[in-house]
Amino acid sequence: MFRSHTCGELRAGHAGQEVLLAGWVHRRRDHGPLIFIDLRDRYGITQVVFDSTAAPAAHAVASDARSEYVLQVRGPVFERPVEAYNPDLATGTIEVHATEATLLNPARNTPLYINKEGGEDEALRLKYRYLDLRRERMQKNLILRHRIVKFIRDYLDREGFLEIETPILIKSTPEGARDYLVPSRIHPGEFYALPQSPQQLKQLLMVAGFDRYFQIARCFRDEDQRADRQPEFTQLDMELSFVDQEDVLDLIERLFIALCREVVPHKRLVTPFPRLTYAEALERYGSDKPDLRYGLELVNLGPVVAQSQSGLFRAALDTGGQVKGLRVPGAGTYSRKQLDELVDMAKQAGARGLLWAVVPADGGDVRSSFGKQVSPEEMAAIIRQMEGEPGDLLLIVADAPKIVAQVLDRLRRESGARLNLADPNLLAWGWVLDFPLVEWNEEEQRWDAVHHPFTAPRDEDLHLMGTDPGRVRARAYDLVLNGYEVGGGSIRIHRRDVQQQLFDLLGIDRETAMRQFGHMLEAFEYGAPPHGGIAPGIDRICMILADESTIREVMAFPKTQQAVDLMTSAPSPVDERQLRELHIALRLE
Ligand code: AMO
Repeated sequence: MFRSHTCGELRAGHAGQEVLLAGWVHRRRDHGPLIFIDLRDRYGITQVVFDSTAAPAAHAVASDARSEYVLQVRGPVFERPVEAYNPDLATGTIEVHATEATLLNPARNTPLYINKEGGEDEALRLKYRYLDLRRERMQKNLILRHRIVKFIRDYLDREGFLEIETPILIKSTPEGARDYLVPSRIHPGEFYALPQSPQQLKQLLMVAGFDRYFQIARCFRDEDQRADRQPEFTQLDMELSFVDQEDVLDLIERLFIALCREVVPHKRLVTPFPRLTYAEALERYGSDKPDLRYGLELVNLGPVVAQSQSGLFRAALDTGGQVKGLRVPGAGTYSRKQLDELVDMAKQAGARGLLWAVVPADGGDVRSSFGKQVSPEEMAAIIRQMEGEPGDLLLIVADAPKIVAQVLDRLRRESGARLNLADPNLLAWGWVLDFPLVEWNEEEQRWDAVHHPFTAPRDEDLHLMGTDPGRVRARAYDLVLNGYEVGGGSIRIHRRDVQQQLFDLLGIDRETAMRQFGHMLEAFEYGAPPHGGIAPGIDRICMILADESTIREVMAFPKTQQAVDLMTSAPSPVDERQLRELHIALRLE
């Protein structure tokens, strides 16, 4: 027996028992003849006392021990005197008096502190990830992640879902990102692609009659990395047969409400999940993933400035643009520097400029960046339309609709944070519905699928496919949580003729369609059931439930923003021999 108990297990009720513990030296306090060691493992910390008179050999081991040494300790459990209780430790009412101690393994000085959060560079944490993961915060995060995934598996099993694995070496499945490719040794010049998601495979599982599928699926996308994006990440991938949009939304909503109540009971939920159309989300929040924890809705100033002669508004209005504003309550006290920061932020988000005004107390003068360029009546009308109260800051953007949305979304998020409106203990889930099926790609001069090319159009919009495709709405839905897109899905096309129609619209010619998606088109001819699904992003959901701000904090071994694994140094060059086997010659420019 290596140990009789874990370091988190002992309580006053164990007093008098002899125990055997093993763990890491978390802290060591040397008082000469008495040494105290906090011994740590995943389960907790236990204080062990080494007495030079009672157990000189054990004391000698403790005397040589340093932080992160691995020890095995035997001895009886004592209840501490009440005044020595440590309320910060679950084992704080007891201590173990070592009679024997064995050094299992010494440790070099660790490059980062395990027993306290350091302010060190993240690169150091990633290089020594196995040490970083010893820290309480990371242990907690990964344990939470385990609980979340376990809950999902159990819940879906009860709902009749089957977990089915799909291959990692497949043919390219476009989800809008670049593929990671794997060269084939056996087939010179040919490549597998790592799945951007198991999209096609899960649809084929529906054709195969499995009815309800899920997988905790690893996905790979070669795209720009961000706080909420990694080159490989995990989806709760799901697909269901004989369902409508409503069935999928209902299941997911029940699942995540139950999950949150179980794993983060201290957090509040808004139920049922509010629903917005895509158009409404953009209109009210400037985003298709709005943070619904607070209001701060955008105000359309179009009607108020429609007749304005001011060049500020005319340039935008006369070219199909918009004028919209955001009222930031009480922010009229911002200093010039703070206002300049907001202007810079707006410019970074793509605006040519940002107009601001501070609502004065009754009768006072308006302080603003554009007062000289509008009439007092216009200014008053703007304030009225935005329902400005004395002391409020009004932010206004006049530009193309896309830019207006982008900029005001950015400013709304910033204001929400500055005003402390984004309560971390509130989970504001929501649905964004009725996405457009396709959007015009100006650069490539073609229509692109907004979700993916297997998403079904709404029946009532089908007639627009030939004439006005931009107005066709998709049977697609996104799940949002606290300002993040945490899932996306749709009802799929299950008929070959409709699928072909969409490929035609996307400019995928018949030959390419057959080459890339022939298996899908063919499968649809063998009795494909109507089906639909969704894929919530596990990393993002874990990140939010763990109160973290990047998904790297809820992944054991993440990569950097440059897609590098600093611990193993991947990617890295390979032997010439390996390249030759793969029929690859490097062309480094
Ligand atoms: P989609 O591409 O919207 O849909 O992805 C679904 C969810 O996966 C998460 N996600 C990511 N998480 C971390 N890093 C990334 N690089 C990353 N990319 C996406 C997000 C996102 O909402 N096959 C479809 C789903 C379907 O239609 O059923 C799909 O993959 O949380």
